[in-house]
Amino acid sequence: MTEQYMHRVIHLAEFGSGFVNPGPLVGAVLVKEQNIIGEGYLKTYGAENAEIVAIRSAKGETYGAELYLNMEPSLDKGGMELILKAGIKKINVGIINPKFQGENLSVLRGKGIEIELGLLKEKCEELNEIYIHFITKGTPFVFTKWAMTLDGKLATRTGDSKWISSEESLNFVHKLRQRVASILVGENTVKIDNPMLTTRLRVDKISNPLRVIVSKYGNIPDDSNVLSVDKNTKTLIISSKHISEDRESYFLNRKVDVLKLEEKNGHIDFKDIVRSLGERGIDSLYIEGGSSILGSAFDSGVVNVVYAAVSPKIVGGKSAITTVGGRGIEKMRDAIVLKKVTHRIVGNDVIFKGYV
Ligand SMILES: NC(=O)c1ccc[n+]([C@@H]2O[C@H](COP(=O)([O-])OP(=O)(O)OC[C@H]3O[C@@H](n4cnc5c(N)ncnc54)[C@H](OP(=O)(O)O)[C@@H]3O)[C@@H](O)[C@H]2O)c1
Repeated sequence: MTEQYMHRVIHLAEFGSGFVNPGPLVGAVLVKEQNIIGEGYLKTYGAENAEIVAIRSAKGETYGAELYLNMEPSLDKGGMELILKAGIKKINVGIINPKFQGENLSVLRGKGIEIELGLLKEKCEELNEIYIHFITKGTPFVFTKWAMTLDGKLATRTGDSKWISSEESLNFVHKLRQRVASILVGENTVKIDNPMLTTRLRVDKISNPLRVIVSKYGNIPDDSNVLSVDKNTKTLIISSKHISEDRESYFLNRKVDVLKLEEKNGHIDFKDIVRSLGERGIDSLYIEGGSSILGSAFDSGVVNVVYAAVSPKIVGGKSAITTVGGRGIEKMRDAIVLKKVTHRIVGNDVIFKGYV
C-alpha cells in the first residue's frame, strides 16, 4: 500500500521533467486514513517546494497525516514551519538529497516527526539520476541515443539517415530532448541532416534543450536550422581557440553563443566540454551523434547512459558509417560492457538502455 503512494509521488515528480533543471524532480503526496488528501510537485527551478504545494492543497484536516516524498526536502521557503504547523506525523522518504546529506531529515526527527527512509529507493534514484550526478560531480549527466540498422549502421553510404527508426522511436527522442538541459551534435550532422534539435511533443508545455554544436572552426552553413535562435531556443557553438574572429563575430551577431576550448591532437576533449557545460549550470547532456562525435565522447569516457534503437533494416555498404567511430579499442576484453541493461519494443524497433 505504501509503495503505491510512492509510485504516485514519482509520477507527479515527472511532470517537472525539463523544467526543474538543475534542481531535483520532487513529488509529494499527503495521506490520511489511507486516503490521498493532498498532492504536489516541483514545477520549475526555484518554484514552491512539492511538500508545500501538497500541504496547501490538502482537503480536510492534516493533523496526524503522513507525507510521502521521493527525496529529502529542502525545508526552505517556509516548508519546515508548514510541516510542523500541519501536524504531519510521519514522512516516508525515498532517498536523501546529496546536497543535504540527510541533515534535514535529522532536523525533522529532532522535531518529533517519524522518518522512514528507503521506500522504492532504486526508482527514486533513477528518477533523479541527472540531479544526483550533477550535485556530486559538477558535470552534466551524459545520455547518448542513436538509431541503428540491424547491420550496425548510423546512415547509408551517402549519409542518409532519415529515418532509420519508427515514428514511435522518434517520439522517444523528443521525450529525451524534453528531459535534458542540452543536446549535442557534430558538424557533419548539421551539414548533412540540418536538424532543428528542438522538442516536438504533443504536450502543454515544451522545454527545448540548449543546442550544442561541436565545430572547430564554425564550418557550418549559414542557413543551418540550429543558427535560428529565439528566447526559448538557444545555440552554443563549441569551437577551437583558433576559430577565426570573423566567424566568431558572425555567430555572436546572430545571438549564437561561442565557447572556445583548447584543441588536443586535432580534437576538443569531451572532458573539457562537460566540465565547461557544468560550470554553466547545465546538468544534463544528450549526445545525438554522429559517429565521429559519439566515438570521441566514448574515447573520453564521459558517457553515462546509452539508448540504442535497433531497427530491423539492413543497408550494407563498407563505407556506411557505424554507430560509434573514434579511436575505439584493440582487444574485445577491453570493451565497455553496459550494466543494468533493459530493452523494450517500440514500434518496429528494440530500444536498449544500459549504463556505462
Ligand atoms: N542514426 C542516428 O541516430 C544518427 C544521429 C546523428 C547523426 N546521424 C548521421 O551521422 C552522419 C554524420 O556523422 P559523422 O561521424 O560523419 O559526423 P559528426 O560526428 O556529426 O561530425 C563529425 C565532425 O566532427 C568532428 N569531431 C568529432 N569529434 C570531435 C571533437 N571531439 N572535437 C572537435 N571536432 C570533432 C570530426 O572531426 P574528425 O573528422 O577530425 O574526427 C568531423 O569533422 C550523418 O549521415 C547523419 O545523418 C545519424
